[in-house]
Amino acid sequence: MNDLFDFKPKPTRFAVMGNPIEHSRSPEIHREFALQTSINLEYDRIRVDGGFNQAVSHFQASNGAGLNITVPFKVDAWKLCTRTGNQLSTRADSARAVNTLRFQEKDTIYGDNTDGIGLVTDLQQNIGFAIEESSILLVGAGGAVRGVLGPLIECCPKSIEITNRTMSKASDLAELFGEKVSAVTIEETTRRKYDLIINGTAAGLHGQLPELKPTCVRSNTLAYDMVYGLQTTPFMEWALDNGAYAVHDGLGMLVEQAAVSFHLWHGIHPQTKPVIELISKIHHVRNS
Ligand code: ATR
Repeated sequence: MNDLFDFKPKPTRFAVMGNPIEHSRSPEIHREFALQTSINLEYDRIRVDGGFNQAVSHFQASNGAGLNITVPFKVDAWKLCTRTGNQLSTRADSARAVNTLRFQEKDTIYGDNTDGIGLVTDLQQNIGFAIEESSILLVGAGGAVRGVLGPLIECCPKSIEITNRTMSKASDLAELFGEKVSAVTIEETTRRKYDLIINGTAAGLHGQLPELKPTCVRSNTLAYDMVYGLQTTPFMEWALDNGAYAVHDGLGMLVEQAAVSFHLWHGIHPQTKPVIELISKIHHVRNS
């Protein structure tokens, strides 16, 4: 009889999948959200070495309720969600990349991309930057940049220019996203001063700086690196050295995108500021 009253429901299972995955902060973030909202969940890191679709099916069959997807599987996740029976949010469809999966009835999957809304929320609500009517330079033309273009455009900036080491990729993206977006060479960035420069390249992950011209920075330029790590990134250092008034890494974006995923799974939007503060505190302790 006692057993009946001692019964505790099993926690729902979530995880982040990628490769590498060891440094992902998503488990810490989701566990903090769970504590805050009193939701009983498990959240793990899963390194995928073999087939991505197989890894997803396996997790789904083992009582998984949802997944975050990170490098290099966001496009694979989008492809999986284009299969008959599965569904995609509009923003994930336009990004052609998925970072959140929710498992639904009849083994179907709903895919979303919360990266762009995470960036926009961090810029506007945490940093206080007004995207509307601003001139934006996006550096990079891979999945990370593609994922944030739609939500940035929705905020009505004056212009968005994309520059990339491989120019053809910047031109392809600009064409896909229409008249608000244009591709510029690194040389052409010297003709304009930007209110916001976002580094969406993978260069910082290897301790490198993408090629950039100092003259595109001015005293009211905000520089934002979508990468988050324990160190100040080479791009942030470059921007400060060249007179940017503020630099930010991608921690706020990471926490904000996680909050939107959390809402998709649990129907509650957690508070993000205490979690950003907590993780950056851990960051400072590790760094000192
Ligand atoms: P993701 O999906 O994470 O964006 P990706 O599709 O491999 O990853 O794109 C990585 C981006 O970082 C690209 O814009 C890449 O430039 P190329 O298109 O020329 O490859 C850019 N990138 C990576 N390393 C770089 C470096 N050292 N300098 C400049 N750009 C770099």
